[in-house]
Amino acid sequence: MTTTVPQPQIDELKPGVKVPAKETILTPRFYVTDFDKVAAMDLSLQEEEIDAMIGEMQADYNRYHFVRDEEFEQSWEHIDEQTRLAFVDFLERSCTSEFSGFLLFKELSRKLKGRNPRLAEIFALMARDEARHAGFLNKAMSDFNIRLDLGYLTRNRSYTFFKPEWIIYAVYLSEKIGYWRYITIFRHLEQNPDRQFYPLFKRFESWCQDENRHGDIFKALLRSQPKMWKSWQGRLWSRFFLLTVFATHSLTVLERADFYRSLGLDPYEFDKTVIRNTNASAARAFPEVLDVERPEFFERMYRCAERNEQLAAISASNDSKLAKFLKKAPLLLGTMADLTRLYFMRPIDAEALRGEVY
Ligand SMILES: [Fe+2]
Ligand SMILES: [Fe+2]
Repeated sequence: MTTTVPQPQIDELKPGVKVPAKETILTPRFYVTDFDKVAAMDLSLQEEEIDAMIGEMQADYNRYHFVRDEEFEQSWEHIDEQTRLAFVDFLERSCTSEFSGFLLFKELSRKLKGRNPRLAEIFALMARDEARHAGFLNKAMSDFNIRLDLGYLTRNRSYTFFKPEWIIYAVYLSEKIGYWRYITIFRHLEQNPDRQFYPLFKRFESWCQDENRHGDIFKALLRSQPKMWKSWQGRLWSRFFLLTVFATHSLTVLERADFYRSLGLDPYEFDKTVIRNTNASAARAFPEVLDVERPEFFERMYRCAERNEQLAAISASNDSKLAKFLKKAPLLLGTMADLTRLYFMRPIDAEALRGEVY
């Protein structure tokens, strides 16, 4: 491997180790939950599905997939500065989110050992996958002479407490949206091989099958808990998590539009494809999904994304604190109003579409 790649303009914790991106509402979160409640979960409604998924995970189809072959052994100097910075940013965000999954699954498996062996096993298998994913991304960063100190990240990130039900809604969506993101990039580059500037993307096809399986495991967990899909509260939480995950996706994709353009992808089209497909997947697990085909859905979403960029510009300006606040307030109120309208937009009743299958 070459070491002659020029250093990108990146803040370092120590030589070669990147200062983790500042935590914001849009950066990947680290979670803890009520482990006793998870241990006591009654899985009887989905026992067969969960056992089938344990078998799938034990088969370990991707055991030899995450190996860096000779394709990685080359110089990346030809990648221009702007693309490199956007790419390193993409790698960091992806690595952090894979690693956050690893920590949560590992902790769940540790805490459930001996108390709920079926769940302890399945979380250990998912932790195995996420560790591979995070490690592979971190090695890709090191091709650009920078890496994340995952131990430092473990100790210094703040952890958000989520009730087990929230974890199930949120992680289901993050696995499925991860699947659609990776496969959309993979298929696009398959059609446009000239835009494949780094071999990581070639790995996405099998990689995303890991995420798909993780999503299916969380679907089984969700369907094993009738209150998560049979109650009005379950409907409201479903919409809340769909909207939160989609808004985070749209805003971060447009914040990093340069990266998607460097792959020859239109960031808006990419975002819409990923959201539409994730919403359609979620209709197989959630009681309600959002009506993303209504024109106002993406109109309002992209207005929020524009405001997000204006907010970032205000934060970066030399204005006084008060001036910044006065400029930001109407933008924040506008975004809250748009998101509230989207939340109350008539949803699609997925349970009615499904009939009495479950
Ligand atoms: Fe992953
Ligand atoms: Fe995953």
